This record gives sequence, structure tokens and C-alpha cells, in this order.
Amino acid sequence: MVTKGVERRIADLRRRIEAANHRYYVLDDPDLPDAEWDALLRELQQLETAHPELVSANSPTQRVGNRPSAKFASVTHAVPMLSLANAFSDEEVGEFVARIARETGDADPAFSVEPKLDGLAISLRYERGEFVRGATRGDGATGEDVSANLRTVKSIPLTLQGDARAASMPDVLEVRGEVILPKAAFEKYNAWALANGHKTLANPRNGAAGSLRQLDPKISAQRPLAFFAYALGEIEGAILPPTHSQTLQWLRSLGFPVSPEVGVARGLQGLLDYYRRIGDKRDALPYDIDGVVYKLDRFDQQRAMGFVSRAPRWAIAHKFPAQEAGTVVESIEVNVGRTGAVTPWVLMKPVHVGGVTVTRATLHNADQVARLDVRAGDTVIVRRAGDVIPEVVRVVEGERPLDRKGHPVHPPYVLPTACPVCGSAIEREEGEVIARCSGGLFCPAQRVQAIFHFASRRAMDIEGLGERFAEALVDFDYVRTVADLYTLTVDDFVVMKRRADERDGTIPETVKAGKIATRWAENLVAGIDGSRDTTLERLLFALGIRDVGESTAKTLARHFGALDPLMAADEDALKQVPDVGPVVAAHIAHFFAQPHNREVIAALRERGVRWPEGAPKRSSEGPLAGKTVVLTGGLAAMSRDEAGDRLEALGAKVSGSVSKKTGIVIAGEAAGSKLAKAQELGVEIWDEAALLAFLERHPASE
Ligand code: IVH
Repeated sequence: MVTKGVERRIADLRRRIEAANHRYYVLDDPDLPDAEWDALLRELQQLETAHPELVSANSPTQRVGNRPSAKFASVTHAVPMLSLANAFSDEEVGEFVARIARETGDADPAFSVEPKLDGLAISLRYERGEFVRGATRGDGATGEDVSANLRTVKSIPLTLQGDARAASMPDVLEVRGEVILPKAAFEKYNAWALANGHKTLANPRNGAAGSLRQLDPKISAQRPLAFFAYALGEIEGAILPPTHSQTLQWLRSLGFPVSPEVGVARGLQGLLDYYRRIGDKRDALPYDIDGVVYKLDRFDQQRAMGFVSRAPRWAIAHKFPAQEAGTVVESIEVNVGRTGAVTPWVLMKPVHVGGVTVTRATLHNADQVARLDVRAGDTVIVRRAGDVIPEVVRVVEGERPLDRKGHPVHPPYVLPTACPVCGSAIEREEGEVIARCSGGLFCPAQRVQAIFHFASRRAMDIEGLGERFAEALVDFDYVRTVADLYTLTVDDFVVMKRRADERDGTIPETVKAGKIATRWAENLVAGIDGSRDTTLERLLFALGIRDVGESTAKTLARHFGALDPLMAADEDALKQVPDVGPVVAAHIAHFFAQPHNREVIAALRERGVRWPEGAPKRSSEGPLAGKTVVLTGGLAAMSRDEAGDRLEALGAKVSGSVSKKTGIVIAGEAAGSKLAKAQELGVEIWDEAALLAFLERHPASE
């Protein structure tokens, strides 16, 4: 029994998928996040499976990809280019593994495991070892001849390695794989496009597609595409190895790039371990991937499993949570940080992205707001990669709410000119991207953040003093400066918390029942007390001087040895400190010139905050003096922090990123992109053994 509702839903799904396909494939300008497209197609597939009488030849479920455009000659694939079924959960992978074990009768079959590259599938044809033609997938049966553009892809071999007359050289060899635009090239292109008023690329895959379908191969050549092989098409006159993984090895030997991440795994756990491992690496990889692919390794077993509706039953793509998703903006707000930096952000309808549900995304700064032209009510695409704060990447055109006359309901957003917290003017210095509240420590937002930062683990390390307490301490006027923390009593905290709970309506049941817990307040006071014994570098970092992060604080502490000479230093003296440029020197001098900052420091001393002081240590001394060292990957013998401390004691400057100025990169276990960059730049590289040998030869003088 088919209800009208089901029919309507099917028609609606088909219409939406086709509209999205057109934007995606024909216009190269997608408006629907992939995950949503997947969800729509899945729902349609499920409805059609449940109601086979409603399947029609023109349903989007019946085609694999796009139709070739008229621009290029069409190519009929001798062996069709297939798609892959998707799995979105461990359970679905479990069903896949179980199905294969059941149907092949092999209880523990081997799988080739590969990253799912997020680019464009292509087929390369070689005759007697020479490249003759390359084509896009198109609709799977017919694609477009993009040979001229493919010839610009440097990693695609034009002549295969080995002797063309040798028996091992196939007469015909079609190799399938993915053309991708590396993340770095994508970012470089977009920066250029922004600066020159061109349209930016939505994502690297679109960059690859646009580049391959360029009519002018010279333009294509300007976007450095990469290629990885992962399958075969037509093949004549060659004897293949018995497994897919061995075939990939063979392709490597012929000169094709095969992803270094491919491997072989067994059993559900083996596949899921691979999925997690590649997922952890995802952000560090130089190109986008959207999942992993599991392929039954033995060709005879593949044949036994066969195909269903243009996808092999012997392979499955296990997708990662999408890093981009669409949602609706409820309002645009600004946040005032510790240094007064005003950051615009959007409050939005909850959306699942990058594996978590988020309701806020950053807009970074006023320039970005203007560039994106985000307004309340807009549908936006947000992106969350790894642990990075979610950001708004673009507004979906055509979804902006309009009034009856067709005008946008909301005007363009402009950043406030007065601080929403303290009312002081918001100012933006010339040449600066960031606008700031000019209220300084008069601004409660900056005071709260200053206290929260002062107490944080890497600063004074006062356990239990989180943002909420910092806020209450400021709101109820218990502290005006960080030095006031050292006057607080257990009673103060108990009363403060009661007032905060009353105000926020969060009075705990135990308190309502007449119990008053004081243990936490005793712990907090003990924590504050314990923080009195500190180090100069922690104190300098804790003070929250603009541009003085942990590493600069450490350098300053070493260079001056004590606080008084640092406070007395003028800008010129400060510029002598390694890595302190004119801007940072000015910020430091300005900080110590302000009477209220000097008062805070005097009060801290008076209230018992103390730190060891010593002779200045100029880093022009030691065997690594003047060298910048970068640590990457895991070390077995010590933590990275510890290794960094020991290298600094020998005069090195430890930095987090690799550049031309890097002297040495120390690469531990599973070192990723930093190691690759070091290799690319020809920087000296040490492994852990070399580091340990060096440290042994140079025991620290302290
Ligand atoms: S194999 C017979 N392997 O995913 C199976 N495809 O959803 C043919 N893709 O069109 C594909 N990485 O564009 C295969 N390691 C990989 C892949 C991969 C990415 C893409 C490819 C394909 C699509 C199918």
C-alpha cells in the first residue's frame, strides 16, 4: 500500500537531489553539504527499496554521476566506473564484514584498506606503456576526455616504467584513481582569488573538478593537482597478481603514485582500528579525505561477491563525520577577550558537524564579516575540523529571508562601535585586523578574562578557579586586580557563590536543604596560597601582557633573570631579546610603564607571591645558540616539553612551526606534516637517537 505521503516525499527528494546535482556537477558551485546530500539520497533509496513500484528510470538513484558537458569529447569506458556503498557507523561495517564472511565461506578474509580521497575519479588509458587518454568518470558509462589537462598533472606518468616490449608490459592498461587539489594549493589559490576579486573555491574537490574541466590546460596547470591510483579498468595482455593489494604494489612499480596510507587489515576490529588511525591523521594529511575504503583483497573472492546496482558488494566506504554542515543563524554577537579583542561570532540552530553538536561559530573579525556578508536568518555552512573552533565558511546564496518586496529582511551586520560589556569605544588600529575595546582593565570582560588567564594551568596554576568563578568575583566586586585574589578568604568564596547561585537560579539541592559545603572553598584558598611560590616566567605569562605568550615569557625571564631589570628596560633594551621585535617591545614597555600595572606587581609581592631570581642568561651561549629547533612526533625517552627545556638550556630556541629559518627538526614517532615540510625545505632532521646522543654529549651546565 502506497500512501500519498510517501509519493510526495519521493518526488520532493528527487527534486531536491537533482537541483543539488545541477549546482554541483554542472555549475561547479554546490550549495548543499555532502552529508545532507548523502542523507537525502539514502532516504530516497530506502523509500524506493520499500516501494519498488515507485522506482523510475529518471530517479537520481539510477545514475552514478553527472552527464558530461558539451565542452569535451566523450569517452565510453570499456569497463564502467563504479561507485561505492557507504557505511556511516561501526555497525554497518560489522554487517559488511559478516556478509562477506558468510558468502565467501572465509571466516577471516583480508581487506585492502585505503583512504577515501576527496577529489575527482578519473581513468587513465595506456597502450604498450604510453599514456593515450584520460577521462572523467561522468555518469560511470561515459565520461569526458580531459587528456590535455591530465598531462599537466605531474604525478601522472606519461610513459610507464619498464620495457614496453617486455612480457610484463600490458597491451592495454586502464588505471583508475583520484585527482585531488592539495590543501596548501587550495588555500593559496583562495588567498589569491580573494586578493584579486575572483570567486573562491568552496572546497579542494571543487578546485580539482574546476581545474580538470578547464578548457585551457594552461590554467589547469597553474593549480597543482595530485593523483593517486586505487583501481584498474580495462586490461589486456597482462597477468594480474591474485590480490588487490599486490596490484597496487605492481602499479607503484609501473610508476603510479599510490597513497602511502594503504594497507591490509583483517576482521572488524582491524578495519575499525584503521578507520580511527586515519581519522586521527586526517587534519595532518596534505589533502582532504572523507573516509576510508575497505576492499576485499582476493580477486577470486571479489568475483564471488559480485555487484549490485553499479556498486561492488566486495567494497564499502566508511565515511568520517562531515566537517561541514548547513544551519541557520539566529543572531550575531561579539565576544570581548582578555586583551580587549572583539571577536564576532554567530549563534545558530544546533548542528552536528565534525562529530559534535555546535551552536556557535566564529566569524574571526570585521573583515571576514564583510567578506561573507552574514546576516541573521541566513543559512550558512559551518566547518569544524579536528579541535579547531567551528567557523562560518560561507552563506548559502538564495536562502536569505526576504520581505514581501524581495528585499533582505536584515541589513548587513556592522560591528558595534561601543563595547557591549563596558560601553568604552571599540577601536581598530591602522593596519590591524582585530578591533579592540579600549576600556582595558576598566572593562569587566577583560578583567574576568585577565583573572581567568592568571589562574590558568600554564600561568599561576590555581586549580578550581574557572571562568564562572572569575566572572562572579568581578561581578560582585571581590577582585579588581589579580593581586586581590591573594586577599580572599573561605568565607568570601562561600558568600560569593551563594550570591552567584541566587542570581543565576542555580541553588543546589543540598544548599536548599540547609547544608553549606565549604570544602571546595578551602581547596580553592589553598590553591591560591600554593600559587604564591612560582617562577618568573609563569608570572610574566600570567600578567597577560599583550603578545607575551609562554615562549616569550620564558625568553624574557632567562634574558633578564629578575623582574626589576625587565621593568626598567626601555624599548631598545627589549629589542635586544631574541625574538622580541619592535611591536612586542613596545607592548612590554607600555605595560610596565602603566602605574596601575606597577601597583599590581607591588601588591602581588606584598601579598607573598615570590619567585627565584638569578643572573641573566643570554641565549647567545651554549652549543645550540642561535638555532631554532622544532620538535614533532612522540618521543619515547621523555616528553616533548622536557626535551624542549633541555634544548633551550643549551641555547636553542624551540619553535612550533617549520620554516626556512628552522635549524633542526627533531622527528619522533609518527611525525606528520612538519617532518614532510622539513624534508621539502631541506632542513636538518634528527631522530630520537640523534637527540639523545647530542644531549649526552652536552650535559646542561646548570
Ligand atoms: S574504488 C569499484 N578507492 O569514491 C570501486 N574509490 O564513492 C571503485 N574514491 O568514484 C572506486 N578514494 O571517486 C575507490 N581508495 C579509493 C577511493 C575511491 C576515493 C572515490 C572515487 C569513487 C567514489 C565512490
